[in-house]
Amino acid sequence: MTAPVLTSTPVPEATKPIMSSTVTPIDIETDGPLFSPSLISPEVISLLPTDYTIRPMRRSDYHRGYLDVLRVLTTVGEISEEAWNQRYDWITSRNDEYYLLVVCDGADRVVGTGSLIVERKFIHSLGMVGHIEDIAVEKNQQGKKLGLRIIQALDYVAAQVGCYKSILDCSEVNEGFYVKCGFKRAGLEMAHYY
Ligand code: ACO
Repeated sequence: MTAPVLTSTPVPEATKPIMSSTVTPIDIETDGPLFSPSLISPEVISLLPTDYTIRPMRRSDYHRGYLDVLRVLTTVGEISEEAWNQRYDWITSRNDEYYLLVVCDGADRVVGTGSLIVERKFIHSLGMVGHIEDIAVEKNQQGKKLGLRIIQALDYVAAQVGCYKSILDCSEVNEGFYVKCGFKRAGLEMAHYY
């Protein structure tokens, strides 16, 4: 089955913010947020269930069940903390391109996650496109609008950093979810596996 490519409504040019120069670089020696918490939509925070939080990923999310949440999406493999830290450092060094966020419950466990990868282009006057990837909500937390909040939060980041659109690939089974999040079918995914 071919997965549709979905795209969000472009942000009107006039309302599009310029890439913020105020995004604070983080100290990779600490357990600081992957990117500036100011990029998390206050409205999305206010709409979460009581005691839930949404925030940029942190290195210590390894110990909060981050990888288990991703297992609802696909195979993850056994990833040691050392391997996690190496990948986390790599992502941290590109934290104006990789925006990974998490939803935590009242017990500070990661119960949902999503990623925005920002691609810088030559076309459309050096336009930037957001790629939404790896959306996952723990099985027993699904149906609480956490998936919707994750997408809204990633859309907000994309608009704040200056993307003119965001796109994603999904299976037919998830099309209805993304339509509810404001996306529409806009193409055809093709893949070449290696
Ligand atoms: N088909 C149609 N509608 C759906 C679906 C679906 N598969 N899933 C949720 N919805 C609807 C809900 O009913 C709700 O509608 P409402 O506003 O009328 O009540 C709305 O979409 C929002 O639903 P949420 O409660 O926010 O969804 P949830 O938190 O359960 O998250 C998700 C949805 C992320 C798809 C979750 O089910 C999940 O993690 N699935 C397994 C992993 C997965 O498939 N991830 C997506 C991969 S594609 C990618 O990453 C780009």
